Amino acid sequence: MTEPLFSDDDEEFDRPRLAAHGPVRVRVPAKINLHLHVGPARADGFHELTTVYHAIGLYDEITARRGDTLTLTMEGEGTGLLSLGEDNLVIRAARALADETGHDPHARLHLKKQIPIAAGLAGGSADAAAALVACDQLWGTGLSRDDLAGIAATLGSDIPFLVLGGTALGTGRGELVSPILTGGHAWHWVLAVAEEGLSTPTVYKTFDQLGAQSEAGPPDGLLAALRQRDPDVLAAHLANDLQAAALHLRPELRGVLDAGLEAGALAGLVSGSGPTVVFLAEDARHAALLAADLEAANCCRAVRTAAGPVPGARVL
Ligand code: C5P
Repeated sequence: MTEPLFSDDDEEFDRPRLAAHGPVRVRVPAKINLHLHVGPARADGFHELTTVYHAIGLYDEITARRGDTLTLTMEGEGTGLLSLGEDNLVIRAARALADETGHDPHARLHLKKQIPIAAGLAGGSADAAAALVACDQLWGTGLSRDDLAGIAATLGSDIPFLVLGGTALGTGRGELVSPILTGGHAWHWVLAVAEEGLSTPTVYKTFDQLGAQSEAGPPDGLLAALRQRDPDVLAAHLANDLQAAALHLRPELRGVLDAGLEAGALAGLVSGSGPTVVFLAEDARHAALLAADLEAANCCRAVRTAAGPVPGARVL
């Protein structure tokens, strides 16, 4: 079911590497976790994970242009809330790539953001993955996708997955990813985005305080369900060990879960560390109906539909 991280016949990464003179635009998806088993905290503070990542069609975009210094501007979700300085993952990703390749860290980066921040959808990680792919192209560094994934892993646990995309098994602290072949079948999701974000470290800490009990176990049932391509079967196998911690911190998410299930969702679960709640639909039409019902229930800040899997960070 799994294959080597990046195949040799990936066309985009087989191209000769020349620095780009015009702007480079990169689109990157959000992710959800179809399965998230959390083990106990390790000596380095991270938790050992077994997770199934799934990239969905909700996108951020980074445009990289030549410049004399490294700058970041943005528009969209989180504008005015996110720092655009040295602590932003986009800037850190560009600097990490420059350090690794010896290239001057010079670029004008612009982020167009649709993925909600602090939502459990890996928006910040997605932007870092996009910055790596964009600067790689702008600077013509010639790194392989595996090299980029290696740099990505130094920046955050789920950034290598956002370079890859699709559906993938994540192990270690989440940074070790291998693709799962799902044969091109599309799954349809509805996202209920909360008013206020949740901090990932706080959710993991709460998981520990609640007794660090995993209910998710190994993902074998989910992997078999993905092969069957039957949404009712998949619905029975979605699992997230961080859900109890997210519900502990935000008890009102229970009402969001109930609203989606009452509206006819096949299943609902908290996405990653939350607070976004994700619902599985039968098909695109069912997703649109569910989304309308959730909007009418007025239980969250925004409702989005998205299908998956989709590719990771790609030059447009
Ligand atoms: O790797 P990343 O920067 O995305 O992780 C954010 C935080 O989430 C970590 O600082 C840690 O508190 C928590 N985390 C964890 N175990 C993981 C991944 C993340 O405890 N496997």
